[in-house]
Amino acid sequence: MPASAAIAPEQLRLSVAPMMDWTDTHCRVFHRTIAPHARLYTEMVHANAVVLGDRTRLLAMDPIEHPVALQLGGSEPELLAQAARIGAGHGFDEINLNCGCPSDRVQAGRFGACLMREPTLVAESVGAMIEACDVPVTVKCRLGVDDDHDFDHFLAFIDTVAAAGCRTFVVHARNAWLKGLSPKENREVPPLRYDWAYALKRERPGLQVIVNGGIATEHEATAHLDHVEGAMLGRAAYHDPYLLHRLDVAWFGGALRTRGDLLRALRPYIEDQLARGVYLKHITRHFLGLFASERGGRAFRQVLSEGAHKPGADWSLIERALALTEHPAVAA
Ligand SMILES: Cc1cc2nc3c(=O)[nH]c(=O)nc-3n(C[C@H](O)[C@H](O)[C@H](O)COP(=O)(O)O)c2cc1C
Repeated sequence: MPASAAIAPEQLRLSVAPMMDWTDTHCRVFHRTIAPHARLYTEMVHANAVVLGDRTRLLAMDPIEHPVALQLGGSEPELLAQAARIGAGHGFDEINLNCGCPSDRVQAGRFGACLMREPTLVAESVGAMIEACDVPVTVKCRLGVDDDHDFDHFLAFIDTVAAAGCRTFVVHARNAWLKGLSPKENREVPPLRYDWAYALKRERPGLQVIVNGGIATEHEATAHLDHVEGAMLGRAAYHDPYLLHRLDVAWFGGALRTRGDLLRALRPYIEDQLARGVYLKHITRHFLGLFASERGGRAFRQVLSEGAHKPGADWSLIERALALTEHPAVAA
């Protein structure tokens, strides 16, 4: 059984979680600008859509995003293999299989978190994906579903998938409850058990383990690195993107840049996108949280929220919003 290609450990330390409707290409370009060393993930795309759908839209990616992983949903090995081949051919640096999403739509399609109960099918899928492409194939999973509370059961899932060649596991360190909880509640209600992710690394030191779920501060993220290869941040990175910048500088070196500097570095990208007909609001929505809890942060957000959807909105709107953070008196 061929093993998946390896990922350099320093590329696993910091990552931004795959998030539907959020981590599109504009979001990832922004995150890359503020966190040069983070590993980025696309939103989940179903394998079927990759094979049959509008790839220009679904697999949109800017070269600045590397290293960037394509996350696939699905449970048909042949289809996933085809989608993995296409994704790698588009230049994605990793193909990740979603075994953690609990939504009803996903359960009806028999993929996402319910795959935690089908390790053999996941192993077959991962094996086919590894055969089909030469970039690393990884898995993002939960600890279990519903009332599975047995570490050995979780370990058996990982072992089965690892035997098919997968070396890298992103562990969202809580169960998914498939009945009675919304996807949002499923990110909050089932208790976090980071100790299971740590125990996985201890028991299987040859595997690469990234921990995910509820990481909200620089201190918390850093503490995980004593136990596993990496920390993956989702909501905290999206709502407070400067946290990503601080983590990148703390873990990889370099000088902290101001929020304004980071945003102005995006100007050529934004102007290029506007020239291609992209609406400003599709880009600015991802950095509304850049000045979260800073002076002028609310005004910054308000100017962008109210102005970015208007016809002709351009870079000057962003400068106006930035001015309110740099000279808050102007906000009055
Ligand atoms: C809006 C939103 C969309 C998400 N979409 C996906 C997805 O497409 N694939 C996936 O594996 N997880 C998805 N997740 C889950 C995150 O990747 C992550 O596992 C979860 O939010 C826990 O991490 P956090 O506490 O750092 O946010 C999503 C989360 C959010 C908030």
